[in-house]
Amino acid sequence: MHRETINSTTPAFYRVNYDLEGAKDSVFELLARRYFRHTLTDLTDNDLFFTAEQIFEVEQKADIGSTWHVGVDTFGYQVSTEFGCTLWAPLQSVNARGQRGGMTYVPQHVISGEWFFEQIEPAVVSTLKAKERAGIKTNTPDYVSLKRGILNSPPMVEILEAHCVEEDFEPGDVLFFNKMVVHRGVALEEGPLAKRAAYVMRFVDARSHYDLKRAQDLEYPVQKYRTGLFAYKPFTRQPMEMAEAGAADGDLISECAYFSEPDRRMLRRERRPDRA
Ligand SMILES: [Fe+2]
Repeated sequence: MHRETINSTTPAFYRVNYDLEGAKDSVFELLARRYFRHTLTDLTDNDLFFTAEQIFEVEQKADIGSTWHVGVDTFGYQVSTEFGCTLWAPLQSVNARGQRGGMTYVPQHVISGEWFFEQIEPAVVSTLKAKERAGIKTNTPDYVSLKRGILNSPPMVEILEAHCVEEDFEPGDVLFFNKMVVHRGVALEEGPLAKRAAYVMRFVDARSHYDLKRAQDLEYPVQKYRTGLFAYKPFTRQPMEMAEAGAADGDLISECAYFSEPDRRMLRRERRPDRA
């Protein structure tokens, strides 16, 4: 577990753990349940492939929550226009009008992150490279500023904060949202709960494809400046580890050798007579 900081001396999370190690039998058993599979594949109208599980934990008063973002890092191995989604499950109650510490998001009919995903994100590294070619030195804060600054500029924050939704959760409730949804983690305010943890599952369209350039762009700050958005390496390593495991640009993600037990990761839609 690691305390992580995003462009600030105040941590965004108390602890974060990427792609939990150890046996995945219990999560595969969950994926095999018909109700779980039907719910996710019906809601998305997609066959889904489970790619990662994570834990995020925020600590009262110590963590500021995250800044506004879309899934450009988490889904940094996938062609930007293809479907990916997250299931976020808090492990403690979240009271949006009380201690907070949950998740807030902006409905896509107000602001969708597609423009950021498909146009801004790919231009971040090319902008830094252009500056370097022109003899202008760049660094990690430049990278973070380009990457985080646009969605967190004062006018954009004003729009997002005016339209965001922040809901209550009980253990067992989940927020299920696609990678284009603009969202952020909310700080845990003063109250009885010292920490709030959430379990997160990531899925992609089972027919979606590996994007090597996006994976390489995520690694750029680590290679160029020796540090990335987060100090903890695996945040950007998963996309490149897929290439190291043999994935080529354009390969089906669900067929990448990087993923253990691919059959157990697959959630296929079932043709049912009650659903035309
Ligand atoms: Fe997120």
